[in-house]
Amino acid sequence: MEMRNDEEDKELLHSQAHIWNHILHFINSMSLKCAIQLDIPDTVNNHGRPMSLSQLVAALPVNPSKSQCVCRLMRILVHSGFFTREKISKTTGEEEGYLLTPASRLLLKDEPLNVRPLLLAMLDPILTKPWHHVGEWFQNDDTTPFNTAHGRTFWDYGSHEPRFNHFFNDAMASDGQLVTSVVVKDCKGVFEGLNSLVDVGGGTGTVAKAIADAFPELECTVLDLPHVVADLQGSGNLTFIGGDMFQAIPSSDAVLLKSILHDWRDEESVKILKRCKEALPSKGGKVIIIDMKVENEKKGDDDSFETQLFFDMMMMILVMGRERTEKEWAKLFADAGFSDYKITPILGLRSLIEVYP
Ligand SMILES: C[S@@+](CC[C@H](N)C(=O)[O-])C[C@H]1O[C@@H](n2cnc3c(N)ncnc32)[C@H](O)[C@@H]1O
Repeated sequence: MEMRNDEEDKELLHSQAHIWNHILHFINSMSLKCAIQLDIPDTVNNHGRPMSLSQLVAALPVNPSKSQCVCRLMRILVHSGFFTREKISKTTGEEEGYLLTPASRLLLKDEPLNVRPLLLAMLDPILTKPWHHVGEWFQNDDTTPFNTAHGRTFWDYGSHEPRFNHFFNDAMASDGQLVTSVVVKDCKGVFEGLNSLVDVGGGTGTVAKAIADAFPELECTVLDLPHVVADLQGSGNLTFIGGDMFQAIPSSDAVLLKSILHDWRDEESVKILKRCKEALPSKGGKVIIIDMKVENEKKGDDDSFETQLFFDMMMMILVMGRERTEKEWAKLFADAGFSDYKITPILGLRSLIEVYP
């Protein structure tokens, strides 16, 4: 056997630990999913003060033979920033109790901006199965690993599987609520001077409804696939239309594309943008995009860059879309015949991008 010095041993063990960490990364996601399935954030919140382990175990719908395991689940959830531990009085015989963090507050059922539907959708076996087929997909002719796993495209699957259609639309609606709450508060100027807006691929209308409510003078239309808007009724200044954004987009002062262009390859994105340009007036109109602007490299210590890379991979695996850098966005806009754009990075991992004809 080859002899190694101490430095080489250290490096070998460090490399093994690095690989182990990456092999097991999915345990963070699955532990969080379990916390939601057991309603742990709501249970801790309803307690109203730091909740000891025994109080938590007693309140959870856990088989008594598994109660010893709750503290191990909570330990990893504390480590990943979803709960904290705080000193409590000794009356329960325990010294510390669990409290929510700002992140787990966003997982409460009654929180209007909660992200539970997105979490449960992204970690549903329908959406995790394609990840087992990525290697196979790299070698076959299928457009996406989703196709390899399920035999049809993501959008076609939604039109045939009502459960998937619903949980995906709910997930997007929950995201829409959070983003729109910031947009209508901090980006009022973006909508000033507009009389009409079409939310293309606007799903079940959460975003358009919030905009329609915030700007009562603005006529808002949601255009989405017929099976998505089939049962939806508009009211007041909100209308729903079933259609295909690759065919035609109703004329309007502005077109909103939230989480749309990241679903598509460049060729298809240029087509969508050209349809948008045709829908706009020759003067004063604009496309409003809400999507990521990927940084070229990691800045600082936070997880944002890694999360953007995760999203980019997810778009490739599910729909053959992509997250784009500013240079990639600029090329799309120029290829679709637009003259200028402005990127406002006010939505955390995402930006609001205004594109002008
Ligand atoms: C990622 S979701 C975004 C939904 C919504 N904009 C939001 O962010 O909450 C993409 C949307 O595009 C819609 N879509 C896909 N293909 C479409 C097409 N050809 N024409 C119109 N809408 C389409 C889907 O049904 C879905 O609602």
